[in-house]
Amino acid sequence: MHVVAFNGSPRKNGNTARLVRHCLDTLESEGLSTEMVQVGGTNIRGCCSCLSCRKKAVELCAITSDPFNEWIEKMKNAEGIILASPVYMFGTTPEMKALIDRASFIARGRVRRGEQGSMFYRKVGGAISAVRRAGAIQALQTMISMFAVTQMVVPMSNYWTFGMGEAPGEVEKDAEGWRSMEELGRNMAWVIKKLYS
Ligand SMILES: Cc1cc2nc3c(=O)[nH]c(=O)nc-3n(C[C@H](O)[C@H](O)[C@H](O)COP(=O)(O)O)c2cc1C
Repeated sequence: MHVVAFNGSPRKNGNTARLVRHCLDTLESEGLSTEMVQVGGTNIRGCCSCLSCRKKAVELCAITSDPFNEWIEKMKNAEGIILASPVYMFGTTPEMKALIDRASFIARGRVRRGEQGSMFYRKVGGAISAVRRAGAIQALQTMISMFAVTQMVVPMSNYWTFGMGEAPGEVEKDAEGWRSMEELGRNMAWVIKKLYS
């Protein structure tokens, strides 16, 4: 049972990465395998609306100049998917939004073709955000919405799954946010084991 996490921050060891790492440590302590994929700071493009995936009924993107197809394969092969982003001007980073647009569109292809379940059907989703002060709920909502429209199962935590901080490492001082990562990891592990053991 595997969980793949996508870090939408261009800071590879910033606050988002630290929150994700803390959640993944909990998942690993529950016996799951994990990996973190760096999305922020890459050349990922937005959807170009060619509709090739829909016309050809394929679950890969026609854009091959970035690593997106490798990443959607990782999503396809995992039981759990974590999307994580710092708040950038009231929402996620553009890299995370590009990932969400393309992955959601491809994943819903099966449903649009009349099948019952999307490509992410009953996978388990978790969303994480890092924020200096305001906008975390908007960022979380954008990420959770991918889970909602692709029939994923979404366990939550003991409070909203964001940590507060600005400079790298500051989220580790946000005790409530830090603990919420542990609870998210425990709840994701519990649901994944129920669904996939
Ligand atoms: C371009 C940019 C936009 C930001 N917009 C917001 C914002 O709207 N609200 C906020 O509270 N913090 C904002 N921040 C601060 C980051 O969300 C915060 O520093 C976060 O901890 C960064 O996480 P990271 O280290 O994973 O990149 C912004 C930072 C940058 C660089």
